[in-house]
Amino acid sequence: MADKYDNRIWSQNTQVLNLDENFDDDLAISPSIHQSVNYAIKDEQHYEEIDVPLGDKFYSRRGNPTSSRLSKIIAGLEGGETGMMFASGMAAISTTMMTFLKAGDHVVAQNCHYIGIGEMIDKILPAQGVTSTRVDQTSVEAFEQAIRPNTKLIILETPVNPLMHITDFKAVCELAKSYGILTFCDNTFATPLNQRPMDFGVDIVMHSATKYIGGHHDLLSGSVTASAEIMEKIWDLSMTLGSVAAPFNSWLALRGIRTLGLRIAQHNKNAMAIAEYLEQHAAVEKVYYPGLKNHPQHKLAKSQMSGYGGLLTFDLKGGYDAGQSFIKNLNLARNASSLGGVSSTVIQPAALFGGRLPQEVVEKQGITMGMIRFATGIETTDDLINDIDQAL
Ligand SMILES: Cc1ncc(COP(=O)(O)O)c(C=O)c1O
Repeated sequence: MADKYDNRIWSQNTQVLNLDENFDDDLAISPSIHQSVNYAIKDEQHYEEIDVPLGDKFYSRRGNPTSSRLSKIIAGLEGGETGMMFASGMAAISTTMMTFLKAGDHVVAQNCHYIGIGEMIDKILPAQGVTSTRVDQTSVEAFEQAIRPNTKLIILETPVNPLMHITDFKAVCELAKSYGILTFCDNTFATPLNQRPMDFGVDIVMHSATKYIGGHHDLLSGSVTASAEIMEKIWDLSMTLGSVAAPFNSWLALRGIRTLGLRIAQHNKNAMAIAEYLEQHAAVEKVYYPGLKNHPQHKLAKSQMSGYGGLLTFDLKGGYDAGQSFIKNLNLARNASSLGGVSSTVIQPAALFGGRLPQEVVEKQGITMGMIRFATGIETTDDLINDIDQAL
């Protein structure tokens, strides 16, 4: 039997369907759901077997077979040792941060992050006595200058919303390792099919599985992948916090992930075609997409990504009002803040929360009034472009 974890032997598209260790016990072709909260203990020896870190047949807050089935597939795709599922991407992020950070510690993070990571760094961690330094992610020197003797974690996210900046995994991970600091990356936007941060030295990788992993706009879930040693520590805290995934959501995501290969190929194709179309449109000031040759970090993106993802941002020359009318004119993409599912979604960041996005967030993230974030779905490319064309 080929080593199914080696992505040089099976493509990731095939791995998604076959990295399933439970298949042999449970000959069902489609994954079964384990809703049971509790499992019976046969005898003392059996107890020893089930009372283990990341065990999934004891009590559902400690682990669940449906969730571990999914986390093993994600870990296999990421090239990591093991993993676990959480109630949401934020549960995965907060549990991981709290596992490795205590009062007196310091974290280095990027100026731009998903807003929830920003809230953790700027609001929750300071209340726990943890300080932070935010840096320009395009500068490896900025990461180095921010490191202090008490830095315990470097938080990465690439490409990042809205300007699609790229972080140099290899350089930052080499730096982190030379200082003995753990690296933690949000790989939600790229997915393991477009980018495997662990290949470049990242220690811990998370996903909001709510997005591309689930892929159908119908579940909330998060995942973390890491070495067994790191995962046991995160698992230990998750039991106390109760941040684990519900089996039904893991089951939905198990169904969703089976088509990840096909979906990501179409998301990548759509985003690239739309970016190229918008680049030459008279109403568009600027397009931000790492797959474009004129993206300032295209070479770096190419060196660490195998596809550029489904997400792009662009600035409309007409500012805020042009953005509002563009979104109203679209027939296909819905005005909705989440992304990564089969249907395209679109937002105008400056209009989020009724235009009440805090000014410091607007400035830190580089949001402009006419900026549009377009998250491609898997619709036919020409239909999306024709719709965007008539809306502009
Ligand atoms: C990049 C990124 N990371 C993390 C999260 C948080 O995930 P969840 O909404 O599943 O808690 C999101 C949600 O939008 C996200 O876009």
